[in-house]
Amino acid sequence: MAFSFCFCFGVTLLLSMWSMATCHIPDGAVTMECRDRYFTIAVDLSFAEKEPNFEAVDETGVYPITVKYAATCGYSTNLLPLLGRMELRASYFSCHTDNTDDEVFTFNFNLNAMHGGEDITYALNKTCSPTLPWSPREVTCEVNYMEVSVRSDMACPTGTKQDDWDAVVQMAYISATSDWQVLLHRDGEQLMPMNLSEAHKQGYAFDLTDGRLVFRTPYGQPDSLSTTVNGVPVEVIHAALFSRQNWVVLMVDLVAACSMYEGSYDESGYMMWETPEELHLLMSGLHETQINVGVNGELVEQPVAEERGYIVEKHNTTVQISIPYNAEGGYRKSLVSGDLYEFYVFDLYVEQISVDEDHVDTRLRFHRTLATPLLPRPVFSLNRTVLEDRTFTVYLGDVPEDVELAAVHLNGHKYMLPFNNTSSQTITKVVHPNNTHGYTLKVPFDDPVVVQKFSKEQAVLQYKLDVNYTMTILPENEPYYHLESVEALFTDVSPPTFQAVCSESGIRFKLDHRSFDYMWDISVGSDLLTSELAAQHGYILSNNSQSLLLDVPLFTHGYKYKDVTLKGFFGTFEILVRDHDTSEVQSSTVKTCPFTATELILCSTDGRMTVVADLSLAIPSGGVPARTNLVDKYCGPKEADDTKALFSFPLNGCGSTVKLGKEYVTYENEIFFSRKLNALKNPADSSNDIDKVMVQCTYPLAGLYRLFSVYKFESDTAGIGRIVRSARSAEGLQSSTTKPPAVLQTAVPATRLTPRPVSIKPGYRPPAQYIRVSSFLNQFNKGARGSPQAKVTPYIGL
Ligand SMILES: *[C@@H]1O[C@H](CO)[C@@H](O)[C@H](O)[C@H]1NC(C)=O
Ligand SMILES: *[C@@H]1O[C@H](CO)[C@@H](O)[C@H](O)[C@H]1NC(C)=O
Ligand SMILES: *[C@@H]1O[C@H](CO)[C@@H](O)[C@H](O)[C@H]1NC(C)=O
Ligand SMILES: *[C@@H]1O[C@H](CO)[C@@H](O)[C@H](O)[C@H]1NC(C)=O
Ligand SMILES: *[C@@H]1O[C@H](CO)[C@@H](O)[C@H](O)[C@H]1NC(C)=O
Ligand SMILES: *[C@@H]1O[C@H](CO)[C@@H](O)[C@H](O)[C@H]1NC(C)=O
Ligand SMILES: *[C@@H]1O[C@H](CO)[C@@H](O)[C@H](O)[C@H]1NC(C)=O
Ligand SMILES: *[C@@H]1O[C@H](CO)[C@@H](O)[C@H](O)[C@H]1NC(C)=O
Ligand SMILES: *[C@@H]1O[C@H](CO)[C@@H](O)[C@H](O)[C@H]1NC(C)=O
Repeated sequence: MAFSFCFCFGVTLLLSMWSMATCHIPDGAVTMECRDRYFTIAVDLSFAEKEPNFEAVDETGVYPITVKYAATCGYSTNLLPLLGRMELRASYFSCHTDNTDDEVFTFNFNLNAMHGGEDITYALNKTCSPTLPWSPREVTCEVNYMEVSVRSDMACPTGTKQDDWDAVVQMAYISATSDWQVLLHRDGEQLMPMNLSEAHKQGYAFDLTDGRLVFRTPYGQPDSLSTTVNGVPVEVIHAALFSRQNWVVLMVDLVAACSMYEGSYDESGYMMWETPEELHLLMSGLHETQINVGVNGELVEQPVAEERGYIVEKHNTTVQISIPYNAEGGYRKSLVSGDLYEFYVFDLYVEQISVDEDHVDTRLRFHRTLATPLLPRPVFSLNRTVLEDRTFTVYLGDVPEDVELAAVHLNGHKYMLPFNNTSSQTITKVVHPNNTHGYTLKVPFDDPVVVQKFSKEQAVLQYKLDVNYTMTILPENEPYYHLESVEALFTDVSPPTFQAVCSESGIRFKLDHRSFDYMWDISVGSDLLTSELAAQHGYILSNNSQSLLLDVPLFTHGYKYKDVTLKGFFGTFEILVRDHDTSEVQSSTVKTCPFTATELILCSTDGRMTVVADLSLAIPSGGVPARTNLVDKYCGPKEADDTKALFSFPLNGCGSTVKLGKEYVTYENEIFFSRKLNALKNPADSSNDIDKVMVQCTYPLAGLYRLFSVYKFESDTAGIGRIVRSARSAEGLQSSTTKPPAVLQTAVPATRLTPRPVSIKPGYRPPAQYIRVSSFLNQFNKGARGSPQAKVTPYIGL
């Protein structure tokens, strides 16, 4: 059967000027590829200032590829902004393609792109020789058109119903023309023949190539039929081409049918598309159907498809294709619509090969774009704060690859990224292999931006940080905000308390540091505890990041004494904890320890002298301390044993003498021993003078509020006590030594009297300490301050 097919287009063959496009295209900006069933040009969108456009070129002219023209003439342009690409697909049977024997196809296009405000035309040409042989029937369901081509030597199709056939034949005779006519069928509708140019005007294209008859139509033509097959929407167009030559009517049935199923998404994460196995009666009688699936216009091998998770199933006569939403080859996009969402797009490519009774196969190719609905794509933030680090650590995770952190608001203060070196806050980006990334934000508790709240009543310290992350969706820079609020709570925020333990020689205080202890100061009396203060008073301070250790040796500044007996006494030391800001005392640690001392003199602030004197040093052997007395012989010891006597008396009592100096007042008394007794017991020593031990308390006048007036003595410091033995008795005991008068001094109020530590010679009986009288007095003079004499009401002697 021979066809003499002549075609002419509705579009007038304007011989428009060949635009002399000679510009050279940058490498990589444009790629051209010959595929099995179409030719494609991909243009990098960054190549031009705005979306480029194409023109089809042949020897008859230049034809802008508009939307309508593309659908009629076998072109489809697809903008893929997510991939930054624009694609043109051209059918091998497209209008302006040079076709040699259905084997060699030459394409010529102009690409018009804007550069620097100027439209520049690039000429593109490519010759393709598809290797896949043409099947007897080929159907392409493009995104914008259906195209069917059949081998022109095929026997007349057998599917037309007898009535229709008769009607067509009749029509062919009536029209009495040798030109080709087209009859478009819609089931049960009156057929109206038209010539090819009329058909082209209506958007239908017919072509006769060397060996094939081609028919193409946009979707949704008035003469096409939208129906459903097994519940799947299908669009069918059925054209009969006929020509009467003499008494022979030539007629070809051309049917194109495509599944118009839009795709669906199921909760299990698959995008699903379906097509009936048999799209139309005229394409029926098919035995076997084989399905190949691919993406972006390329079919993949079966094992690859399986590996990518593509699923092809037949349910009754419907073919169902399921693609995992995030399958390779698809692309995703983040989107803000209140919350953060994403969607996936998959350019599905399906081939359906069928074999009919005569073993003639039909090859259907579908280009279909599947998209998921908007899927929530939450980012998350995680509180990774470790209280001990005193730093907020917040992790922002699952940030999609097309989303970037641009800024953070920390408690309302805006910080753009990247952070500069000067800030104590840091932010670091973490990239994960699953195409997400995260950010770790660190802000120290002490950073001024952190809100700090302290409730004294509830003993709770709270740090708070509100983070408002500003992310931007690329490339359109749409902002998205994510909020996180973190706090660090320190409960039981009470002032620090020390552990205190007694030792033989003093008291040891220990404090384990807590992270919030900086809110308090530690002081001894009114003085802030510093290493300087410790050195000045002879405390031993050691402090590291873990704990603070303070050793307070007995008789150093700050001790208070009580319950003095011959057996021992109690010493008390107090450490105060003050509010760092107000200096108010918040708590204190008081420790009282028992101590023993062979000798001791205490000069209390309320005017009492307490003396434990070791008289064995003073009394020649056999003396009885119990029989000693003060200047007032009725003032005997409160307590005595074989060697020691304890006296405790008012400073101005018991015959004390008072020496008022310029800056100091000294109360002095003496401990006498009965000579008689000594003589009796020790007649050999009867020649000795009465031995005596002088005891003194010296107070700086400046620190005195009252001398003994009527009732009361009052000093703000303890006095300096001294026990001074007469040289003779000392000689009697320690004849081999030539010592200056021995002086025992205790309870030195060093802050008042000695700005520097006094030079203390080690005592021969700890803890009694001997100092030189002269140097001691020197210290007095140096350390004295202006004395408020007016306050003093001296009352000397009783
Ligand atoms: C096709 O393009 C190449 C360069 O891309 C050029 O050398 C050649 O002349 C072009 N052919 C036609 C027929 O325009
Ligand atoms: C095709 O048909 C239309 C209207 O039916 C007519 O105007 C036109 O001249 C015809 N064209 C040709 C080439 O016969
Ligand atoms: C297959 O078709 C039969 C009859 O049309 C119907 O009853 C059955 O539900 C269908 N099965 C599926 C899985 O669609
Ligand atoms: C550095 O950062 C701090 C706080 O983030 C900001 O106050 C300051 O202006 C920044 N300096 C520069 C030079 O960006
Ligand atoms: C910021 O810090 C980096 C590394 O810590 C250093 O290389 C860079 O010089 C610093 N920049 C400034 C302005 O201090
Ligand atoms: C991506 O990987 C990171 C690190 O392994 C993980 O924390 C995160 O949950 C993953 N996100 C998704 C969406 O799988
Ligand atoms: C987060 O920051 C953005 C940008 O400044 C602002 O519009 C938004 O209201 C903030 N969100 C909250 C809860 O503060
Ligand atoms: C964050 O972490 C810190 C430290 O583990 C914890 O005290 C706090 O309760 C956490 N939660 C919030 C909301 O800050
Ligand atoms: C002891 O050390 C801690 C931490 O090292 C410090 O905060 C504190 O001020 C120090 N205290 C004294 C009294 O030196």
